[in-house]
Amino acid sequence: MANTSVKDPYAFNGAPLSKERQASSASILPEDVVPPKKKNRHFYIESYGCQMNFSDSEIVAAILDKEGYQLTENLEEANLVLVNTCSIREKAEQTVRKRLELFNGIKNKKNDLKIGVLGCMAERLKHKFLEEEKMVDLVVGPDAYKDIPNLLREADAEREAVNVILSKEETYGDIAPVRLASNGVSAFVTITRGCDNMCTFCVVPFTRGRERSRDPKSILEEVADLAEKGYKEVTLLGQNVDSYLWYGGGLKKDFIKASSLQQKTAVNFANLLDLVAHSQPKMRIRFSTSNPQDMSLDVIRTMARHENICNYIHLPVQSGSNAILEKMNRQHTREEYFQLIDNIWKIIPDCAISHDMIAGFPTETEQDHLDTMSLMNYVKYDYGFMFAYSERPGTPAAKKIEDDVPMSVKKRRLQEIIDLQREHSAYRTEQFIGKTVCVLVEKNSKRSPEFWSGRISQNTVAVFPKDKYKVGDFVNVKIEKVTSATLIGQAVGLSNTV
Ligand code: SAH
Ligand code: F3S
Repeated sequence: MANTSVKDPYAFNGAPLSKERQASSASILPEDVVPPKKKNRHFYIESYGCQMNFSDSEIVAAILDKEGYQLTENLEEANLVLVNTCSIREKAEQTVRKRLELFNGIKNKKNDLKIGVLGCMAERLKHKFLEEEKMVDLVVGPDAYKDIPNLLREADAEREAVNVILSKEETYGDIAPVRLASNGVSAFVTITRGCDNMCTFCVVPFTRGRERSRDPKSILEEVADLAEKGYKEVTLLGQNVDSYLWYGGGLKKDFIKASSLQQKTAVNFANLLDLVAHSQPKMRIRFSTSNPQDMSLDVIRTMARHENICNYIHLPVQSGSNAILEKMNRQHTREEYFQLIDNIWKIIPDCAISHDMIAGFPTETEQDHLDTMSLMNYVKYDYGFMFAYSERPGTPAAKKIEDDVPMSVKKRRLQEIIDLQREHSAYRTEQFIGKTVCVLVEKNSKRSPEFWSGRISQNTVAVFPKDKYKVGDFVNVKIEKVTSATLIGQAVGLSNTV
């Protein structure tokens, strides 16, 4: 209790709660208690990092909306500035710090402005933000967003407003997100939170806690609500979606302790995909991220069975060297990864695959790096997200393995990986020349306001002249030319399929 300011609204005697209780009871007001509308209270929110953070900000917006706060895109108007932060690499944290400095500059001129830090940096740095850095008024970890209304009251009273308690149960399944910066066509739906995988380089298990899955009923309801509002595509989100397992709530690692009935009736990721795809046959279904060690043949077969599940898998591998994969604790070998890729292509021949890759993990030799390049040559990924290793304090790698690859070597290897990926992306897009593909129209093309931009099932961006088509249409487009990232073509009519 000493390091938290959480108050239970029902504990009028102010008795401290146990940590466990605080985590599960993080309080928002009950449904029937409508808070008084706060006049002219505006909040401004910025999100950094993964898609999950953007999705979380939509949950935070819903909680603040209920508190009477209005969203603003104008910093000048805001009484509350929130930054949803990322800790995945050092650079991500530096970016956030620069933003916080700027917001503090504004605060110096505007007394009633409160600044809050949310997400992974809040979880990682906790009280440091208030004590040492004095940059913020509010520190809220990823499982404590329902406590924001209380924390705001604490901050208003100039008391410490920190809640970084990680939860066993919180999935925010009961909160209908307020869609921020939405194109009205595609939306994220979170299905799992946290991660149990403990890849040695990764800070996520420490900042987002243990893995837990959301009730399939609330997922289906959210997807149905999006369909009703005209959305055409959902992406089911989690750090490791293939590990999804609903057996009535609770941590994934406690599944073995569940009753035999709970175990028998449990819903896994293949089951969930099937349910979602079946419930909304006119919607495109995507998911991210898949960890190779948890991806089952059942999932791939489910994808093949449903036309509306997109033929695209984001399948991070991180390295092509068995020695490095083991040191990363990735739980699969290079050969097992190839087997998985072969199975995907056997079952879904035109499935696109993307990756995440880390260059210069500690102890990586030139041969390890060449193994990564040869793995890439085998898969010829459609695209990838590529990074130089960044040591994160507190992770198993930081504790046990010296960060011994010089920055210049990391950078050179990263550039080689990026250059190779560019060749592969160009090879992949070229395969579409002369083919007709179904494009879901999302927005104006950056190249020209006369062109629409959308994505095909394989997630590749396609642009074409607008003609009579509109945002949200599924349009058949004949591809005439390509760049390494974009397909360019002409519409040939509306599509009957998604
Ligand atoms: N859940 C995903 C990864 C989430 S983090 C998975 O299954 O792999 C997103 C990506 O950031 C990772 O895939 C990894 O490539 C990169 N990353 C994570 N920690 C990193 C670090 N310490 N240094 C460099 N890149 C890192
Ligand atoms: Fe991180 Fe590995 Fe989980 S990369 S998010 S610990 S799957």
